[in-house]
Amino acid sequence: MTIPKYKIPITKPDLGDDEIFAVSNVIRSGWIMQGNCVSEFERAFAEYVGAKTAIAVSSGTAALHLALLAAGVKQGKTVICPSYSFIATANVIRLCGAEPIFVDIDPETYNIEPKLLASVSQPNTCAILAVHQVGLPANIEEINLFAKEHNLVVIEDAACAIGSEYNQEKIGKPHSLAAGFSFHPRKLLTTGDGGIVTTNDLDFAKQVRCLRQHGIDNPKEGYQVVGFNYRLTDLQAAIGLEQIKKLPLFLSHRRSQAKRYNQAFSRCPLLGIPKEFPNMLSNFQSYQMRLLPNDKITRDELLKGLIEAGIFAQAGIQPIHKQVIYKEFNQLSLIETEKAAQQVVMLPLYYSLSESEQNYIIETTLNLINKH
Ligand SMILES: Cc1ncc(COP(=O)(O)O)c(C=O)c1O
Repeated sequence: MTIPKYKIPITKPDLGDDEIFAVSNVIRSGWIMQGNCVSEFERAFAEYVGAKTAIAVSSGTAALHLALLAAGVKQGKTVICPSYSFIATANVIRLCGAEPIFVDIDPETYNIEPKLLASVSQPNTCAILAVHQVGLPANIEEINLFAKEHNLVVIEDAACAIGSEYNQEKIGKPHSLAAGFSFHPRKLLTTGDGGIVTTNDLDFAKQVRCLRQHGIDNPKEGYQVVGFNYRLTDLQAAIGLEQIKKLPLFLSHRRSQAKRYNQAFSRCPLLGIPKEFPNMLSNFQSYQMRLLPNDKITRDELLKGLIEAGIFAQAGIQPIHKQVIYKEFNQLSLIETEKAAQQVVMLPLYYSLSESEQNYIIETTLNLINKH
């Protein structure tokens, strides 16, 4: 077996001396838990996306859990969400005591197909959790239209969508009641783990703040509800403050890297490159393309070949409705979701991926397809 020329992970966080220095300062200050750095980070994030306020929390899951709770999601209710998503999307609904209703995706956006909402909505449906999958915005206008007609709340699962834009406005502005972001290391901005809720509704924000910290926001008001410890620390926020300064650079670089992949792969008839939309700008958190059905090579053979060549590409997202924990939905047929899961290949994409590494990924992918 030949030794691969490179070992290329699917992603790599872009952290450096600035983040090390910022964390050292927090340690020296003697205050490491939620404090001034968290407040400063919340202000910077809200300003970046154009929201009135932001509430930092310990993960994207925590952000979505609290957003749904504050939106009134509870036992006896159902929430519509896609199955083509990370399992946390559905888990947060169950964490509120409600049940998910899985809706199929638009094969071009990999996000909720708004035309299907009417066919899945039930009398006890109270909300839609709209995911902006791997950074490409969902069709939020049409989702909002349906929600308005049916008196449903919309919350955006923007875990992957930092820097993405809908109608030339940043995701998180928000285009709904609230958006929840993740700062997991696979995202464009990382704090190790972490998350944030953005909203323009200040009463809603106060509820989220209370829930994040044992049910207390203002010590003078005492404990208002049974809450959680979902705080972000000042150590993490200090990293976030450095990362947010670099976001424009991360974004433009990723978009040009994605363009290089698109240019190289658009010539291969077996590959379906991500579609671009004038009103929906992806941050390319991941580069997601399809290996179209063919009699030359299977998706899994392509993945195996890439991994043997040291390129840690991944399969598409595993549909939530097929997981053991959602066994009552296992028989549900979501054709486009299942097709995407079978056809999608995610290729490495991150700021420090060099041009020669990217060329190697492109050449290896095309060679594997052509040699079969
Ligand atoms: C679509 C989606 N929702 C929610 C989450 C949960 O975020 P976290 O891992 O920060 O809890 C993720 C994380 O990858 C995600 O991709």
